[in-house]
Amino acid sequence: MRKGILLAGGSGTRLHPMTLASSKQLLPVYDKPMVYYPLTVLILAGIRDIMVISTPADLPQFKRLLGDGERLGVKFTYAEQPSPDGIAQAFVIGRDWIAGEGCALVLGDNLIFGDHLAAALQNAAAREDGATVFAYQVRDPERYGVVSFGHNGRALEIVEKPSAPKSNWAVTGLYFYDAQVTELAAAIKPSHRGELEITDLNKLYLERESLQVEKLGRGCAWLDAGTPDSLLQAASFVQTIQSRQGMLVGCPEEVAFRMGFIDAAMLEMEAAKLGKTELGRVLHDLATGNHG
Ligand code: G1P
Repeated sequence: MRKGILLAGGSGTRLHPMTLASSKQLLPVYDKPMVYYPLTVLILAGIRDIMVISTPADLPQFKRLLGDGERLGVKFTYAEQPSPDGIAQAFVIGRDWIAGEGCALVLGDNLIFGDHLAAALQNAAAREDGATVFAYQVRDPERYGVVSFGHNGRALEIVEKPSAPKSNWAVTGLYFYDAQVTELAAAIKPSHRGELEITDLNKLYLERESLQVEKLGRGCAWLDAGTPDSLLQAASFVQTIQSRQGMLVGCPEEVAFRMGFIDAAMLEMEAAKLGKTELGRVLHDLATGNHG
């Protein structure tokens, strides 16, 4: 799979007044804009052709931040979502661009980090048939799409924000779909809240017995940053890992280098742009071979 969509729409009402004049996905999560974290996940999956979808008001800021992608060895295409009509609408908006291929989707406020993640992502991207989603155990599943499993470990049912969840496995905002995705997304009808639900798209794959649900275990962290508390928790998490281990979380330049999308000279240029920041120093060390 070569293509991925980064969806950074919505009005971020749960973060007002922080999001009255700024896109939620551009708010800082510790030392980087929020959107860097899901972008890094797409790059780690080996995806180089990326469509960024946002609101007409916010899209210019994403262009200013991300540019054409050349500095990361990727290509960004930009598209507007005029009103927040649901996550699955990304595949209606992106239909011509996807052009009959498979496509991944990541939500601009999801932060996924952990052990063995690279292999899990690259396996999902390598699957040619069906869809792959990731499930993560949470204390408050009613806030999410929830998947329940049968005795054989196969997914039985997915329900969007159930009032009585049948499991505590939430479906994360990272999805990999085969070439049927645009056709299936076009068939979805708006839900009672007026949105094209990503859960309805996943149900179509589940009904066709072509939905793979990968459980993310203890070695992984999945955070969303959609409320003041979760935003602060995400920032603390990144700060803790980075300062304790000296490893970067959600740094697209680092992962683009490790994936071979850019070489050491390009990484050094990116490090130089970051000046005297800690991030710039870590990237400089990586480019010059002084660091793991
Ligand atoms: C959306 C999806 C939900 C998923 C969640 C992950 O929820 O509808 O299925 O579990 O993203 O972040 P929303 O952010 O729209 O509340």
